[in-house]
Amino acid sequence: MTKKLFIKSYGCQMNVYDAQRMTDVLKPIGYTVTENADDAHLVILNTCHIREKAAEKVYSELGRLNLLKNKRVGEADRMILAVGGCVAQAEGAEIVRRAPYVDMVFGPQTYHRLPEMVARAHRDAGVVLDTDFPAESKFDHLPEQTTVQGYAAFLTVQEGCDKFCAFCVVPYTRGAEFSRPPQQIMEEAARLVDKGVREITLLGQNVNNYHGARDDGSEWSLGRLIRELAQIDGLSGIRYTTSYPADMNDELINAHRDVDQLMPFLHLPVQSGSDRILKAMNRRHSSDDYRAIVGRLRDARPDLALSSDFIVGFPGESDKDFAATMDLVREIGFVQAYSFKYSPRPGTPAAANEYQVAESVKTERLAALQDLLNEQQLAFNHACVGQQMNILLERPGRKPGQLVGRSPYMQAVHVNAPDSLIGEVVALAITDAHGNSLSAELATAPDGQNVKGLMRQSKTQKRAIA
Ligand code: SAH
Ligand code: F3S
Repeated sequence: MTKKLFIKSYGCQMNVYDAQRMTDVLKPIGYTVTENADDAHLVILNTCHIREKAAEKVYSELGRLNLLKNKRVGEADRMILAVGGCVAQAEGAEIVRRAPYVDMVFGPQTYHRLPEMVARAHRDAGVVLDTDFPAESKFDHLPEQTTVQGYAAFLTVQEGCDKFCAFCVVPYTRGAEFSRPPQQIMEEAARLVDKGVREITLLGQNVNNYHGARDDGSEWSLGRLIRELAQIDGLSGIRYTTSYPADMNDELINAHRDVDQLMPFLHLPVQSGSDRILKAMNRRHSSDDYRAIVGRLRDARPDLALSSDFIVGFPGESDKDFAATMDLVREIGFVQAYSFKYSPRPGTPAAANEYQVAESVKTERLAALQDLLNEQQLAFNHACVGQQMNILLERPGRKPGQLVGRSPYMQAVHVNAPDSLIGEVVALAITDAHGNSLSAELATAPDGQNVKGLMRQSKTQKRAIA
């Protein structure tokens, strides 16, 4: 009998990748994916613990799912309810207490043991709890990746983090930093490309610190890995995320200069523009370090578009500190960004800090920062109008006849084009800009991006903002 599997992922892209790997590991024991929790035999919430809101969502969703579960009593039709991901890792016992009807709770490092856990959940009436950090790597035990959705894929190359930023739960939920061996990654990438993937995003919580050990004892940095991946025939785009500013090294910066497939877009979280706050956050960069790194990157790849993460209202953040963040944003110019109110996370050093910032102040600062970031994003999007770009068309859009892709600079691009172009890299002329996306038409002019024109415009745009 085939059994139906429903996975709902929250949070980061690594969870999206993990969900596919869970699907791969459950396939041999008869599970196929369904888009609907109602008729699923196994429901997995793949959770995120990064901010309080994300974690709390899990409990309300579990309440809803329990109603479904109660309707499905017959043994053959029984629903197993599971919580995976970082909430499971951080508060496994708490989940069992608050939602005793959950059958399985398992952390991000144990996905290779899922078949065994499912069997145990079927046999036992009690809850199966597996939140170890096993000595063996899950990557050595997962089957070859077979679930490929579409033409742009994620590939986890590094996991965990040893940076211990004072606000962040990742080092506790994902464990110590670990780089997968280059050989394993090269093979997985080749298989993805074989299955039609054209663009790969390399994932890691601290991906630019990637250093994978080879059999001969030597190591590859991320820059080296990107150069090697670029040799794979048919792979037209490479991206990576997320990067830690202090780990930006010359080899990677030079890859931005030399590797055509490496997209001119970089997500480089700065968190704050205040040196005092950066220090309190235990970030290993000052605001000037960040400026210098961006300068080197832009020297290497002048049209590089930058994105970032910001936290407002970190404990002790004064008006002056916040003003420094706004200044840095004005100076650097981001084409896109994520910004959050500081959310105290249990067990992290900053949560115990006595100088917490009032909620009303956080709200005000976040609104001001987001206004500025949105303004920059819109200005950049407008600067793209009139440009020609080569864009991978990934899937049909919401409107009939419409396809969607991503520009080299990560904007979503909508174009009216035949379905036969899905999975192709196509020259598009950008015709219109919106807050979060671009409209385009099929370009009739010869191929090739007008990068120079875009650079000129983005410089003008930066002046207009400053
Ligand atoms: N390097 C990681 C970053 C993890 S968290 C990665 O792989 O993406 C993503 C972002 O969430 C962080 O950059 C930070 O801006 C934000 N964040 C993390 N902890 C937070 C907290 N306690 N409160 C608010 N925002 C937080
Ligand atoms: Fe978190 Fe800082 Fe690592 S934000 S993931 S502890 S680099």
